[in-house]
Amino acid sequence: MAGAAVLGLCRFAQKVKTPTGFLSYATHGNVVGQTEPKQPSLVGRHFLTLKDFSKREVQHLLWVAADLKTRFQTRNEKYNPLVGKAGALYFQKRSTRTRMSSETGFALLGGHPLFLTDNDIHLGVNESMHDSAKVISRFVDVFLARVFNHSDLVEFSKHATIPIINGLSELYHPLQTLADLQTLQEHYGRLKGLTVAWVGDGNNIIHSIMMGAPKMGMNLKIATPKDYTLESAVVDDCKELIKEHGTELYITTDPMEACEKADVIVTDTWISMGQEEEKQARVKAFQGYQVTKKMTSVASPDWCFLHCLPRKPEEVDDEVFYSDKSLVWDEAENRKWTVMAVMLTLLKDHALKTPKPKF
Ligand code: CP
Ligand code: NVA
Repeated sequence: MAGAAVLGLCRFAQKVKTPTGFLSYATHGNVVGQTEPKQPSLVGRHFLTLKDFSKREVQHLLWVAADLKTRFQTRNEKYNPLVGKAGALYFQKRSTRTRMSSETGFALLGGHPLFLTDNDIHLGVNESMHDSAKVISRFVDVFLARVFNHSDLVEFSKHATIPIINGLSELYHPLQTLADLQTLQEHYGRLKGLTVAWVGDGNNIIHSIMMGAPKMGMNLKIATPKDYTLESAVVDDCKELIKEHGTELYITTDPMEACEKADVIVTDTWISMGQEEEKQARVKAFQGYQVTKKMTSVASPDWCFLHCLPRKPEEVDDEVFYSDKSLVWDEAENRKWTVMAVMLTLLKDHALKTPKPKF
């Protein structure tokens, strides 16, 4: 009777049986258990940087990713909420993980993915961003783009009438950070209080971690060579987040200092896509930044290693990269569940079935 009373109050409410057997109430597609507040709706939003998403929204995306992973992987469910939807996946640069996770993930949800490169469409070459955004918005329901210039994504999203997803720009790679957070949550059973050490370039990967990790209660220790530091605007934004969420940020040029007592050691290529001509200078400047066993020896005893991939041995040696402390394969797989969570939640509210992970 009490349940019926609750149902009576919620226009779109539907009683659902959860995997743990208790009953909760789905409203607008989200689990609203008697104690769980309604989850945020992200429908219609752009996903260009985690800077635009609150702690609660990032947690919601991670919860949806965990829910999708359980439904598809553990329960072998058929779940096709995106039947009838089309998604364009546009790449100006190479990609294995982002392309494959988004294309297979969109199809798994029942949608129709279109993979496009800049050899395929006019965008930015023969047609303005404005005009392309208007036209593409008439054909597909969501647009994921990997671009050289973040400013192109911003411009495109201003004129598009569909959600735009950043599939990597020179400034940010927010999809990667979501997968990293999911991997760490699964490994440690929490995120709050973890300390992440970055050893390497002040690039798009660490910029995105800086926009996401503090919101989850994580501390950051960042070591970059002096001529390859972080974007100062990103550092300023991160300092604000650190203050707001009561965590810590430490920036240095000494990798050993960054790794000291860290739970997570993260690195990436020294030469990002588009920087190939700088290879010689970069390899020279990054000497001493290869992640090695020596660096891990000063980390927390329960340390782990992350790398967005693709990896080259110069930035991390085989002993660390292939060790049982390395979570890189789970991290790569989680690109799929997290991009699915993003694509789905920007298009539809989603009925969560699995209990909320502990953050
Ligand atoms: N980590 C990542 O984005 O990999 P890809 O370049 O293969 O997409
Ligand atoms: N920093 C790298 C990440 C690749 C996934 C790049 O931008 O090329």
